[in-house]
Amino acid sequence: MAHAPGKIILAGEHFVVLGAPGVAMAINLHSWVRVRPKNSPGVNVDADIPLRFISGEDRNPVFPNPPGLRPLQLAAEATLNHIKSKSSGLSVSVECEIPVAAGLGSSASTTVAIIAAVARSQGVELDRRQIFKLAFVPENFLHGKSSGVDQATCTYGGMIQFTRPSSIRTLQLKKSPVILVCDTGIHHATKTLVGAVIEKSQRERMEFHDHLAEVREISRGVVRALRNGDDEDLGKLMYQNHELLRKIGVSHPRLDQLVNAAKRAGALGAKMTGAGGGGCMIVLCHSNKARDTIARILRRGGATPYKISMDTKGVQSQTC
Ligand code: PMV
Repeated sequence: MAHAPGKIILAGEHFVVLGAPGVAMAINLHSWVRVRPKNSPGVNVDADIPLRFISGEDRNPVFPNPPGLRPLQLAAEATLNHIKSKSSGLSVSVECEIPVAAGLGSSASTTVAIIAAVARSQGVELDRRQIFKLAFVPENFLHGKSSGVDQATCTYGGMIQFTRPSSIRTLQLKKSPVILVCDTGIHHATKTLVGAVIEKSQRERMEFHDHLAEVREISRGVVRALRNGDDEDLGKLMYQNHELLRKIGVSHPRLDQLVNAAKRAGALGAKMTGAGGGGCMIVLCHSNKARDTIARILRRGGATPYKISMDTKGVQSQTC
């Protein structure tokens, strides 16, 4: 068995694909994977995931491996190849409490948990670096061009600074930020959004040169604010990052409304998180009490709030 956390991005989504550093935090919403041997050859995947949000199909409990589960099957197959397993067949079951296609890393979380669990089922304990690298197979399949920030965060846990292709720095925080996640309920396709930003960056080279410089500054500032426990600064940088993401066209009117509502409700900072086009936004709050109040206000505005905290462990596996 293995489990892995989901994630939020505090700074740098989309620009991390273009080479800027991103800052991301693992959160206490998880996916769980159980692997069992089976008598027939090949890998069967069964997942408690609403596939219509990913690929237009619904979960089909009768036939194993509907096409929407292909990335999860790829994760298992890549792991078996990597460890040169002679396994005749495996059955992989996935449960996921992370909202799907919402920018919270549900795909990265499930794939790193599958990689760890499949290796463990063959008597191999992969180190985190190997799990991170193997996760590019399903993540690139799903996202087109994945920076690696999602699987790095879900694998290592905690708060990390990530720079392509594989620089992962765990940050020591003065204190954990009090964060509220709000789901708009509008589901997005990361692949389409990432592809559109890459194309735009090629068409608008001058503008993106400036945007990249701004994101580098924002990410550096966010790291500094987290190390110093400076919530005021962190909040301002989050608003600034949201504005930039809105400018390049990956936000959504609903996200903008929620960011403004959070600001009016006294949030220190708020921004969309992940690929955008809907999905989730994150809100930095003064205190747990302020978070309760802001959560109530945003729920009345139609969003689904999650009072998350940081997961510090990352992916964990065990034999049972
Ligand atoms: O799949 P999401 O919504 O968690 O977004 C991932 C973050 C991006 O920067 C948009 C893509 C990437 O691979 O870095």
